[in-house]
Amino acid sequence: MRITVLTLFPEMYQDFISTSIIGRAIKNGIVSVDFVQIRDFAHDHYKHVDDKPFGGGYGQVMKCQPVLDALNSVKTEVSYSMMMSPAGNVYTQAKARALSQKDHIILLCGHYEGFDARINKHVDELVSIGDYVLTGGEMASMVIMDSVIRLLEGAIRQGSTEEESHENGLLEYPQYTQPADYQGDKVPDILLSGHHAKIQEWRTKQSLLLTKQVRPDMFEKHTMTPYEKKIWDKIQQEENE
Ligand code: ADE
Repeated sequence: MRITVLTLFPEMYQDFISTSIIGRAIKNGIVSVDFVQIRDFAHDHYKHVDDKPFGGGYGQVMKCQPVLDALNSVKTEVSYSMMMSPAGNVYTQAKARALSQKDHIILLCGHYEGFDARINKHVDELVSIGDYVLTGGEMASMVIMDSVIRLLEGAIRQGSTEEESHENGLLEYPQYTQPADYQGDKVPDILLSGHHAKIQEWRTKQSLLLTKQVRPDMFEKHTMTPYEKKIWDKIQQEENE
C-alpha cells in the first residue's frame, strides 16, 4: 500500500513514521508513505496557499489552485482520496478495514478555516475523526494512517486485530497480566483456570455488559451471534433470579 499526505506541515509526521509498529511497517516495505508540500504548488512570490473568505468572516481559507495542483500531481486511477474535515463522514473501524484493501490512499490536510468548498468534489470523500474541531487535518490523517497500517498483513501478529474493540460491533473484554494479585486487587479466578471454553464465555459476557454500559448506541445496533445470544439470555436469567 502507498499513502500520500498533502500538507503544509510534513515535519509533524517525522516521529510518527519512524516509531514503533508504524516505523517498522514502513521499514519492512508493508507500506510506503510520501508527503507533498502544498505550498510548493503556490505560484505567487510569497507562496500564498490561503486567502480571506468571500462574504467576510474570520480566518483564512485554503485556495483551489495550489491544493488541486498538489492533488492532481499524485492522483492516479487507483487512488482513493480523502479530505480531513470536521464536516466529513465520521471515521470508523469498518472504514479502516475498507481502506486497508486500497492500493493508494491520499490524505488531504488543511489548516486555517478549511478549504474552498469547490475542492470537495475533487476528492472521493470528506472524513471526520470525531465531533470536535482540530487546528488542522494532520492529527486526523495520522489517526487514519495508524488505524489502517496496523491492519495490513505483516504489520502486527496475525489474529491480534480480530477480537479488538469495534471489530465485531462490541467493545473488547478486559485484559489482565502479571501479577495475579496486585496489592490485593486480584485477577478474576476464571482467567487462571485454564478452562478455555469458560474463559471464552466470561470474555463474551464482559464484552456484552461493557458495551451495553459504556456504548448503549453500539449495543442497540449490534446483531448478536447465536453464541452471544445464548450468553446474553443467561445473563438476563441470572438478573431475574
Ligand atoms: N480538521 C479539523 N477538525 C477535524 C476533525 N474532527 N476530523 C478531521 N479533520 C479535521
